[in-house]
Amino acid sequence: MYLESLKLENFRNYKEQEINLINGINLFLGNNAQGKTNIIEAIYICAFGKSYRTIKDTELINFESDYCNINCKYIKSAQGTCSFYIDNMNRKQLKNNDIKIKKIADYVGEIPIVIFSPESLDVVKGSPARRRNFIDMICCQLSKSYIIYHQEYMKCLKLKNSILKQDYIDDNYIEVLHEKMAKYIKFIVDLREKIINKLDYYSKDIQKSITDGAEEIKLEYVTDFINKSEEEIKKYLDEHLYVDKLRKSTIKGIQRDDLGIYINEKEVAVYGSQGQKRTALLTLKLANFELLKEEKDEIPILLLDDIMSELDSKRINYMLKYIENYQSIITTTEDTFARNIDNIKIFKVSNGTLEN
Ligand SMILES: Nc1ncnc2c1ncn2[C@@H]1O[C@H](COP(=O)(O)OP(=O)(O)OP(=O)(O)O)[C@@H](O)[C@H]1O
Ligand SMILES: [Mg+2]
Repeated sequence: MYLESLKLENFRNYKEQEINLINGINLFLGNNAQGKTNIIEAIYICAFGKSYRTIKDTELINFESDYCNINCKYIKSAQGTCSFYIDNMNRKQLKNNDIKIKKIADYVGEIPIVIFSPESLDVVKGSPARRRNFIDMICCQLSKSYIIYHQEYMKCLKLKNSILKQDYIDDNYIEVLHEKMAKYIKFIVDLREKIINKLDYYSKDIQKSITDGAEEIKLEYVTDFINKSEEEIKKYLDEHLYVDKLRKSTIKGIQRDDLGIYINEKEVAVYGSQGQKRTALLTLKLANFELLKEEKDEIPILLLDDIMSELDSKRINYMLKYIENYQSIITTTEDTFARNIDNIKIFKVSNGTLEN
């Protein structure tokens, strides 16, 4: 699939802007603070119904306006549309092909995307939460049930943690919560495991090819729940309740899962050089692309925010070669790498306006 056009109305520093994209490299070029990342963010919002930069939707509204609108047209087997609206009363409206969508689970997945920005490096060197988020983003794009079960699990967890903080704890009530949580955990763990195994499979060849065979990557799902049935998961949660009570918080659960990333058998977060971390991330993102392409039977859209400054010329060339036949949205302050590329459209970004 590919995006045909994007229309922004009062979104961040854009007042009214229509953007016609090509099914190739769309390069947004400009100085700092002109509105390049805002374009990436707008496309992300079309895909996920929310931003990755803020949890407050109203922040997206232009300072001088009281509402904002994002519309995008895409081509799959037929033309489709996605839209996002928010006003300063926090009234939000998502639409798919002009049909109002009530639940986020019914919205996500229409436009598959892979996003790679300087913050993505946290997937490799940051906390487990960043790695879980990386896996969750893929799972959410593949399964509506995953979104729903994850939301339900987090609700149960919040409730359980609030009960654990009270003086009197009703064990029977917690057991009922554990029963529900075990069902959600089983589903979530099964999908996370499947996705990590597939990412591992795709990563191997990519990593070898970027490093001319010098580095072998291995991805491993780190969880307490692999190969456990729903009943065994429930039992495990029950058995750890006494520790939860001591700590006044839930210590075992999928909110602790992690993704182990190893280069030549060594954990990259701990032993990897800066360059190895960047290479591992590039591999992960390209594996993410291959996985979505295969599982959704659609070509995902690549959002690359300011990553040329993060990669050396060898890796930039590898990536450009990899993506040349797909649609990508790239932001940059320097366009030297863009010379000698066909199938590219350059947009000059200046203070919330575009010129091409
Ligand atoms: N709600 C808003 N209304 C108006 N302007 C906003 C709003 N939110 C952010 N901005 C402005 O948008 C501008 C551009 O932001 P953006 O992150 O897209 O810059 P950029 O071109 O990616 O810059 P850099 O190269 O530094 O990453 C900033 O100057 C910011 O103040
Ligand atoms: Mg930016």
